[in-house]
Amino acid sequence: MLKIGVLVSGGGTNLQAIIDNINTGNITNSKIEVVISNNPNAFALERAKKAGIDTVCISPKDYSDRSLFNKALIEKIDEYNVDLIVLAGCMVVMPPELIQKYNNKIINIHPALIPSFCGKGFYGLHVHEEALKRGVKITGATVHFVDEGTDTGPIILQKAVEVRQDDTPEILQRRVMEEAEWKIMPKAIDLIANGKVKVEDRKVYISGGTK
Ligand code: GAR
Repeated sequence: MLKIGVLVSGGGTNLQAIIDNINTGNITNSKIEVVISNNPNAFALERAKKAGIDTVCISPKDYSDRSLFNKALIEKIDEYNVDLIVLAGCMVVMPPELIQKYNNKIINIHPALIPSFCGKGFYGLHVHEEALKRGVKITGATVHFVDEGTDTGPIILQKAVEVRQDDTPEILQRRVMEEAEWKIMPKAIDLIANGKVKVEDRKVYISGGTK
């Protein structure tokens, strides 16, 4: 059984997709042990409580310096003894010590087709604003392992989504979530939980393919 810790900051629709897919049996062999938020008001915490999952808030604002926050976060994750850390709309930069300790055990969902519209400053709605500004016709979402860089880790799954010419950032964000994020994140977790994901030379190989 894969023990999962989910890190969130906001609405938690990706968290909800994971909970729902565990409940329907689309994600097998997995259990969410804890949901951790940096934001005490994140609606994601309500979703977790409703599903009977332990919740914890660890905010950088409650610590006098970043290293103390990092230490508290790592200690909490260690306490739950998780096998996989899922960043589901988590807007906090992960401590390098955590990334080293949980090498290829942290995954993130990014709302674009990496390497487009990613890196520093590309998060949430901004990503879709930039995609619309650039006039791309296709965007999408990416699930990737987290390494020391920003959105630079090995790519696990990607899914393309059409951009329409009358899209607003909000409309595009919603389509990317519905058509891509809420599908590939649960799928990636199921693949990992069933031992089908291997990383070699910064590339991901999935046994049996992705279909
Ligand atoms: C999602 O669109 C996710 O891809 C994005 O934040 C949103 C969170 O929504 N993440 C990033 O931009 C990370 N760089 P949610 O809280 O409803 O899951």
